[in-house]
Amino acid sequence: MKALIAVLPGDGIGPEVMAEARRVLTAVGARFGHAFELREAKFGGCAIDAGGVPLPDDTLALCREADAVLLGAVGGPKWERAPRPEEGLLALRKDLGVYANLRPVVAHQRLAHASTLRPEVIAGVDLLIVRELTGGLYFGKKESAAGYAVDTCTYTEHEVERLVRAGARLAKRRRKRLCSVDKANVLETSRLWRRVAERVVRDEFPSVQLSHQLVDSCAMQLVRDPRQFDVIVTENMFGDILSDEAAMIAGSIGMLPSASLGDGKRGLYEPIHGSAPDIAGKGVANPLGTILAAAMLLRLSLGLQEEAEAVEGAVSAAVERGVLTADLAKNGSAASTREVGIAVLDALNAKGD
Ligand code: IPM
Ligand code: MG
Repeated sequence: MKALIAVLPGDGIGPEVMAEARRVLTAVGARFGHAFELREAKFGGCAIDAGGVPLPDDTLALCREADAVLLGAVGGPKWERAPRPEEGLLALRKDLGVYANLRPVVAHQRLAHASTLRPEVIAGVDLLIVRELTGGLYFGKKESAAGYAVDTCTYTEHEVERLVRAGARLAKRRRKRLCSVDKANVLETSRLWRRVAERVVRDEFPSVQLSHQLVDSCAMQLVRDPRQFDVIVTENMFGDILSDEAAMIAGSIGMLPSASLGDGKRGLYEPIHGSAPDIAGKGVANPLGTILAAAMLLRLSLGLQEEAEAVEGAVSAAVERGVLTADLAKNGSAASTREVGIAVLDALNAKGD
């Protein structure tokens, strides 16, 4: 097949991890006979440096035209005044209408040593956080003056409905358990969220078992007994926080990919980690989150299931071989970003033999 993929390396470690993901996509294209056109554009802090805005018009035009967008990371200490790189990311998510952000968390046995949680607590965890991505506090009315600041959290029934539907649809194909996370004992938006979740699941997904958790309790349950979770649906801010917490189950935030989807096939794919300015440019960042995001892109936007599995299998093989960056490696045995990328490519190519 032919596909246009917009590639936005961004800032900090973004370009380093993206270089490996690009190589993986090119190798998959060659092995399975696809013509992927990877077209790169400036986004985030580097776009601010080049032209004063984080999301330039030509970058946005490319993303709208593309079948999918693969993003590294944006932000850094250099851009702490407006316009911030993060504003570009929020504008891009909003413009593409990608309201459902899928963040799978899987515990790999070979990485148990890297987690701060005990191996018996995380063994076998396979959960999926579905975070609302284009509403809530991130997009509410904001205001600030001397000695005063406001952020508002707004949700409409429609926004909750489509997100819960996306989560329930995924749960139906998994272990059929959906946990809706809110703060309904305090927030009006959460009471709306809970009512809508109940109605949608009752009327449209009778085979899915719905439960509710308050966000503070869920934060605790995620480290107490993460195996209880299958699919979690939650609002934007809660999902942002819970997914970083859940990353520890996988051993490192560098392992987690994400896919942001709207009503169509086009999606925005990114690792959940940030630009990590402290290690940028050193060639030590973990590229696996971005490579796994590329696998999600193949599956969800391009419909290439076998290709996605080949990439995920190659990542597992590299992990099994113990080719790991410093965030995951045991003392003294860390591989570089490039070496991990090569290990994935080797596994990918070996499978084709
Ligand atoms: C994420 C990030 C972003 C977010 C930042 C960079 C704006 O933390 O994707 O989780 O808060 O959504
Ligand atoms: Mg985050």
